[in-house]
Amino acid sequence: MAAYTPPAPYASAARLTWQVALLVFIVTILIGLMNGQRVGAIDTTAERSLLLTHLQTGTVGWITLALLGVTLWLFGNGDGDPRMLPRFAAVTVGVYPLTFYLFYPGGPVSNPAALHVFGTLALIAIVWMLIWTIQQSGRVPMSVARLGVLGALINLTLVKILDVLVELRFAGLAFPGDVNTAHSAMMTVGYVLPAAFALVEWRLGGGADGPRSLWGTISIGLLVVGGWLAVIVAVISQPALFQLVLLLQIAATIIFAVRMASRVSGASWLDRGGDRHAALAAIAIIVDAALLVYIVFAFFAVGSEPPRALLIGLNHTEFVGVLTNLMFATLLAVTASVREQTWAWADDVVFWGMSIGWIGFVVVELIGALSLVAVFTPILGVCLLIGIAAYSMRLRKVAASA
Ligand code: HEM
Repeated sequence: MAAYTPPAPYASAARLTWQVALLVFIVTILIGLMNGQRVGAIDTTAERSLLLTHLQTGTVGWITLALLGVTLWLFGNGDGDPRMLPRFAAVTVGVYPLTFYLFYPGGPVSNPAALHVFGTLALIAIVWMLIWTIQQSGRVPMSVARLGVLGALINLTLVKILDVLVELRFAGLAFPGDVNTAHSAMMTVGYVLPAAFALVEWRLGGGADGPRSLWGTISIGLLVVGGWLAVIVAVISQPALFQLVLLLQIAATIIFAVRMASRVSGASWLDRGGDRHAALAAIAIIVDAALLVYIVFAFFAVGSEPPRALLIGLNHTEFVGVLTNLMFATLLAVTASVREQTWAWADDVVFWGMSIGWIGFVVVELIGALSLVAVFTPILGVCLLIGIAAYSMRLRKVAASA
């Protein structure tokens, strides 16, 4: 059964961040559509700023900004209206990834100092959101869903601090430690997965206000601590210790799989609405963990680099299969009241088209049939664009009727 979505006190603030996040996601998709037709001919060095714009608009402008909307929705209790915070976050976190194209070294303007300024503004927004969320956590029930969002936000702040350090290094500042690896490791284990567990829990598990399950709490704790450990391991350059981080991730994923198995197997794949997106995301979390275990043991453990296509398969499982599905599940839930009047037909097209698109894209990357990327990415991209159009119109309609 669908988890109940009560009206939230800060619904308008959350809607603003979601609207901007959906807009920025269009940039990710357009670059993805273009690149999908050129796989094999992409110059990953000369086109670094374009590839990073694709990555940053997807991870920061879309996923992170949408997660800040989720935070406002889940932690708002009507006490002390955060009017400036959502506006500041929407502008700074929305604009920062776009600046990559211009200012990344080698890009059209190539100005690392400017990139650093925008990165710092986004960091201020995230720290501000974290402080607000910590204050709010004493005023709302700390369910597993809220705990996961709080854990993800704490680690997101650490990810952004690492981001700023990476940019300072580009700007010429020298300091020890493998900040780049620390950044990627923390991003996956400490940020993406707690956020994903929280969103699945909200939609399919105990909901936002349900009693806090001990095993749910343990699984979130393992990931958050795993993220910290990943940073320490990367900074002290002891890659062998990554296996410990992986162990924490595997334990958390097993707990998650056991807790969610019956909800996923009971999901109705034909019902329009967000639950099937959340159920598919839960399956993608398991696939993501299996891929990561394979990559670590087959490549990192023997000191070799995994092929780029394998990492691309992993990235799109995480950010499209897991997190985009979960954000769409959230948007479907919070706009449920106007769904029937606004492009109701789109929900089936988006769910099935997006699923065929991302699963096909990931599989052909994994098996090396790269010529088929040009077939699956248009299916994925066009269905995502239809979803963006439908959810934007619905968010506006909900706002107008509030
Ligand atoms: C949240 C969303 C997304 C994220 C975070 C993301 C991330 C990435 C990353 C990290 C890469 C590798 C870049 C590199 O080599 O440095 C990549 C490549 C690529 N992405 Fe995405 N992506 C997202 C969505 C999409 C979508 C929606 C599409 C298609 C419509 C797409 C199509 C592609 C293509 C075609 C490539 C190049 C593949 C290749 O060279 O084999 N991506 N993406």
